[in-house]
Amino acid sequence: MAWTRTILYSALSSYLWHPANADYVWPNEEIDDLEAILYEQQSIFGAPGSDLASFVSGCSGFGEGTRGGGRNFGAEWLRTAYHDMATADVNAGTGGVDASIMFETDRPENPGKGFSETFGIFSGAYTTRTSMADLLAAAAVISVGTCSNGKVIIPFKAGRVDAAGPGPSGVPQPQEDLASHTASFARQGFDVSEMIALVACGHSIGGVHGVDFPEIVPNPPNTGTDNMVTFDTTNDDFDNKVATEFVANITQNPLAFGQNETTRSDFRIFNADGGKVISQLAASNDYFLSTCTTMLERMINTVPRSVKLTDVLNPIAVKPRNLFITPNADGTLYVNGFIRITNTTVDASKSQVFIHPKSRSGKPLPVATATTKQGMSGGCDYPNCGPGLIFYMFNTTISAEDGISSFTIEIQNDAAGKTSQYDNGGSGFPFSDAIQPLFSLSNQTQLTVDNVNYNQLNVTALVLNAEDFSDISLIIPVPVNFTAPLSPWTQSKVSMKPLSKVPGTNHTLYTASWKAELAARTHPFDIVATGNKGTVSSLYNTWDNVPFVF
Ligand code: HEM
Ligand SMILES: *[C@@H]1O[C@H](CO)[C@@H](O)[C@H](O)[C@H]1NC(C)=O
Ligand SMILES: *[C@@H]1O[C@H](CO)[C@@H](O)[C@H](O)[C@H]1NC(C)=O
Ligand SMILES: *[C@@H]1O[C@H](CO)[C@@H](O)[C@H](O)[C@H]1NC(C)=O
Ligand SMILES: *[C@@H]1O[C@H](CO)[C@@H](O)[C@H](O)[C@H]1NC(C)=O
Ligand SMILES: *[C@@H]1O[C@H](CO)[C@@H](O)[C@H](O)[C@H]1NC(C)=O
Ligand SMILES: *[C@@H]1O[C@H](CO)[C@@H](O)[C@H](O)[C@H]1NC(C)=O
Ligand SMILES: *[C@@H]1O[C@H](CO)[C@@H](O)[C@H](O)[C@H]1NC(C)=O
Ligand SMILES: *[C@@H]1O[C@H](CO)[C@@H](O)[C@H](O)[C@H]1NC(C)=O
Repeated sequence: MAWTRTILYSALSSYLWHPANADYVWPNEEIDDLEAILYEQQSIFGAPGSDLASFVSGCSGFGEGTRGGGRNFGAEWLRTAYHDMATADVNAGTGGVDASIMFETDRPENPGKGFSETFGIFSGAYTTRTSMADLLAAAAVISVGTCSNGKVIIPFKAGRVDAAGPGPSGVPQPQEDLASHTASFARQGFDVSEMIALVACGHSIGGVHGVDFPEIVPNPPNTGTDNMVTFDTTNDDFDNKVATEFVANITQNPLAFGQNETTRSDFRIFNADGGKVISQLAASNDYFLSTCTTMLERMINTVPRSVKLTDVLNPIAVKPRNLFITPNADGTLYVNGFIRITNTTVDASKSQVFIHPKSRSGKPLPVATATTKQGMSGGCDYPNCGPGLIFYMFNTTISAEDGISSFTIEIQNDAAGKTSQYDNGGSGFPFSDAIQPLFSLSNQTQLTVDNVNYNQLNVTALVLNAEDFSDISLIIPVPVNFTAPLSPWTQSKVSMKPLSKVPGTNHTLYTASWKAELAARTHPFDIVATGNKGTVSSLYNTWDNVPFVF
């Protein structure tokens, strides 16, 4: 079997996260949010790292396992990613993980509320910068990471592109015969050995729900659950019990030993090679876990031929997270912010962190000390997923005449005992007073007019040399089609109006109010000024920093 060697090699090389991304320059629109979703699960900030992993805490998470709801959220996320991929045709180079599943949940091959529950959790993180397809792949990574307690860490690449509508059908169903399953997996790019492994990996967690498959498992009414019968005795553990119990004839798995012979697809698949692969998977849990790491990585990286994935996305060592400018009454600007540093880079107990700002003209400004304290830390919910994160905060006051354009970061006595400079690939971390929202003067609210619920966002922004611009706008991406399961984005643009000059500076306050149906969501907003001399912008500002007014 050719895949055995690949698996062993990959188990050695990809078991743990790797320390650095080659040539990462902040900001990076393609990966910044996904990096936070994967590695900044615990954070001092909200979205996008608003701890999606906590939804699958303990694997079942809020799905309550076999107890209350009879649902396992971790299993739902993994099944969702598989059903999205399962209609791929690798020879044609079409389908794969493209979020087309969102248009396909009315098909008989996709029963159950596991899909909509998964979409509900991840659609809050769906933006112009993060495709739903990447989120569904990340869901699979986080699911098995949590459910294996960090023993299956699937390397993640970004760059998946969302489908505009439904794709062809073809998700395997339990009543189909072995020949159709073999053909279906071949279409997806998996041979017989790989099919056996991938199905065993998928059916390591979760189970079959009577509410959706009454012909497979009993569905007594009024039980208050969805009547799940789990695939093995460890519903919440991603482990090889599904294989050991199958090989030992323990009749737990409804798709292997269920009352209805027609729907025993796991039985037929696990025996497709005479039982060799399933026995190997049963013989060693380590072998099972490394095999699943490879198989599931291939599953999430099955994408249309036209899609080019990024390199593996690793935790970023030093990353600005929230930066602010506020004018003072005396012609100065208060600049403050947060820098997120991995605990493999910095040692919070002894390192010293300094911010070196540069003026608008590139002149060095006085150095600011960044500090951290108890509780300003974060990282992953489960082991081996990524490093610990320490959040440092800094502030400085600069003259409005100097302004600010960028800064570099110096760490003295870092985790390796050295002094290191972080200059973001040479030109520093960009941060400019040319245009910035003023969060303390802005607000958001929810209101109801004629029974329709709206989000309202009122923004005040600081604009330098406003006379240079013919257009200053607040821009918020909104779905083209609010009622579609998945929609591309269009821009909702509101012109900003001058409010007053900031005394002692060349800055002017501008303001705008935006209102849209809740379905338009709270996508991060841009402030953009254009004119003869060029364009300045402050992009992708999170609503989390805008105070709520009730
Ligand atoms: C011939 C191939 C397959 C068939 C016929 C099949 C069939 C099924 C069925 C009938 C269920 C019950 C769903 C429910 O009641 O909610 C199920 C659950 C599940 N399947 Fe598969 N499956 C196949 C392959 C896979 C693969 C390749 C994966 C992932 C790698 C996978 C992952 C899962 C997971 C995680 C669950 C549990 C869902 C939950 O508990 O909510 N399946 N499968
Ligand atoms: C067994 O499953 C098949 C396929 O779903 C179904 O047509 C048949 O009615 C089931 N038999 C029983 C006894 O439930
Ligand atoms: C499981 O059942 C099969 C078929 O009945 C039998 O050949 C095999 O020996 C059994 N295995 C164990 C471990 O009992
Ligand atoms: C860094 O953080 C990780 C994850 O929280 C933790 O396991 C590890 O002990 C920390 N290392 C140091 C040197 O503090
Ligand atoms: C500004 O930073 C200094 C440490 O450099 C700290 O003592 C002070 O409390 C900070 N000011 C504010 C308003 O956070
Ligand atoms: C405002 O702009 C004028 C013209 O460029 C410049 O001479 C002056 O120094 C600026 N004042 C401040 C406070 O930046
Ligand atoms: C809300 O923000 C707008 C625009 O910045 C401002 O004019 C208004 O006074 C604010 N309202 C409250 C209650 O803070
Ligand atoms: C936001 O701005 C609108 C339009 O100016 C105004 O009616 C509304 O009261 C403002 N909201 C808050 C919370 O101040
Ligand atoms: C918007 O989506 C809905 C639901 O999928 C669909 O019925 C409708 O045709 C779409 N509208 C447009 C203009 O595409």
